[in-house]
Amino acid sequence: MGKDTPAPTERPQTTGAGARTAEAQTRGVYYATTPIFYVNAEPHIGHAYTTTLVDVVTRFHRLKGDDTLFLTGTDEHGEKIQKAADAAGLSPQAYTDRVAKKFQDTWNSLGIAYDEFIRTTEARHQAVVHEVLTRVYEAGDIIFGEYGGLYCVGCERYYTDKELEGGKCPQHDIPLEYRSEENYFFRMERYRPWLRETLEENPELIRPERYRNEVLSILREPIGDLSISRPRSRVPWGIPLPWDENHVTYVWFDALINYYSALKSRDAVERYWPFVEHFIAKDILKPHGVFWPTMLKSAGLPLYRHLNVHGYWLVDGGKMSKSKGNVVRPLDLKDKYGNDAFRYYLLRDMTFGLDASFSEVGLAERINADLANDLGNLLNRTLGMLGKYRGGVVPAPGPLEPIDEALRDAFVGLPERMTELFDALQFDRAIESVLEAVRKANKYIAETQPWVLAKEGAAGRLDTVLYGCVEALRCASILLSPVIPTKAAELQQQLGLKGDYTLQDAATWGLTPAGTPTAPGAPLFPRVDLAALNDSLEPKETALEHLPEVTLDDFAKLELRVAEILKAEAHPKADKLLVLTVKLGPEERTVVSGIREWYTPAELVGKKVVLVANLKPVKLRGVLSQGMILAAEDSEGNLSVSVLDRDLASGSVVR
Ligand code: ME8
Ligand code: MG
Repeated sequence: MGKDTPAPTERPQTTGAGARTAEAQTRGVYYATTPIFYVNAEPHIGHAYTTTLVDVVTRFHRLKGDDTLFLTGTDEHGEKIQKAADAAGLSPQAYTDRVAKKFQDTWNSLGIAYDEFIRTTEARHQAVVHEVLTRVYEAGDIIFGEYGGLYCVGCERYYTDKELEGGKCPQHDIPLEYRSEENYFFRMERYRPWLRETLEENPELIRPERYRNEVLSILREPIGDLSISRPRSRVPWGIPLPWDENHVTYVWFDALINYYSALKSRDAVERYWPFVEHFIAKDILKPHGVFWPTMLKSAGLPLYRHLNVHGYWLVDGGKMSKSKGNVVRPLDLKDKYGNDAFRYYLLRDMTFGLDASFSEVGLAERINADLANDLGNLLNRTLGMLGKYRGGVVPAPGPLEPIDEALRDAFVGLPERMTELFDALQFDRAIESVLEAVRKANKYIAETQPWVLAKEGAAGRLDTVLYGCVEALRCASILLSPVIPTKAAELQQQLGLKGDYTLQDAATWGLTPAGTPTAPGAPLFPRVDLAALNDSLEPKETALEHLPEVTLDDFAKLELRVAEILKAEAHPKADKLLVLTVKLGPEERTVVSGIREWYTPAELVGKKVVLVANLKPVKLRGVLSQGMILAAEDSEGNLSVSVLDRDLASGSVVR
């Protein structure tokens, strides 16, 4: 097998149900990564999804006994971050420190058990970027040249005409700027035939299949060479090239290496690299499906085992965006519904590879149906009956009848089934398979009618049935523990169980010792009041916040006048500002206005607006602004300038 061919996963040998020989099994190795997120935005449910997913997957592999490593981190270099730092009025380092911490804090409070958090501004990462760049350079794969194309700063990459949608960036829906620059290039095109062949030969390398096909279709035409540097004079915020200090490394070339540098810095490359599983969403398929494998090949490093690509969480049928004001924040949901319920929803309601629609009502319904009703009820009924009939102590079972065996069989095959479904990225189905068994257990209670057994004095049968319920719950709690770790532990405590189980313990019926005292507590998952939730989601007009009163004399101090916009142009140094030239009777003035996000210069020219004419002039990013245009903004971030509805001469007084 060539060094570029993914090695098969080492799996623990499966032993029959009941055998507990974990020590004798070969340990599998599992290394999973999330993207390292850009620090220009705060974590939202999209980031939380991938990170929670990898948390669940790695918890599952740990439960299975695999030697497991979970890497996440932050992507901190490049033009976009530099701009975000400028806008925040901070140095790039101070800014990235702040937002990286925000990511760490969020993951910590969401109970994400990552093993390693890498930041691309760390020295340990930069050293490995140098090493990989040097390998690629020494392979003869770096050339110097000029390139021009349409660049998206949001994506930090060039787009080909074919990739655009209606002439715009398909991710950000904005027109792109043409750029040309002298850069160093990675001879990526050279590796296109190799990558095509590799993908043909390893149909599972990029999965699900739709994304493999997408990459194959990219590879059908020349992919060109990849610009991998930026002049330091224009983008100082990056890692200098080892062979030319005047250029910094292109942010994607730097960022992708994190997956490798994190291992290198722990001296764990040999152990984990052959097993690396990347988890990303479809937005960054090209860098991971085309740039990264060719980079690895050129550097003489083995390819990843799998690139696992999921879809997008959509909100209100579209992308989340700050300007739409519909960004869903994971910590808000955690505070409202509890962390485990939120995790459960994320994993259960997205089919890996497809888009899913986020809905708070959907989340609440999921909690009520699966967690409060199915799982929560099974626990409450079991604890209730144990309390009522057996003094709160788990009895010893008698011989199993077919109905008891059917219950057992609904559970003991699940560890293997879940392993298959996890390996196939079918997380929603894996969870559903456990819930199906939980529903069977509820049905088992309805069918065995323990209350009738108690009344009829069938003590032996009652013992067996109650014991079966405890075992069903014990197995379900193990199987669901990667998804709902805190609640699974709580469930085990309420049943008086020891906890600390392995996956194999869910394949073994009868591990609960008879005589175990239970410790009933609060319901695991309180039901959500759907009527109240729906009511609270009805759009309501929020009360206005008023300022203290002013007198007419106060108001008379303001000089408001009609101003005609003669000229509008982009501020040379600030993205959000327009520089307007306005006519005020015989005067002309310059006014700097923060309305660039809402108006193109052409739309503004000729408009007559209201100007605060006696506002003390201020310099805004180097341009003197003599007055302020009045504009209205609503709670959703829509903006409108104050135009007059009849044509009056500029300079007219407004009062
Ligand atoms: O692209 N639904 O970082 P990024 C699901 N720094 N997942 C979503 C999502 C959504 N609506 N929105 C974002 C970058 N994500 C680079 C990565 S890796 C070497 C460098 C998740 O902050 C998803 O995992 O834009 C997606 O791939 C990632 O956030 C993009 O994060
Ligand atoms: Mg992005």
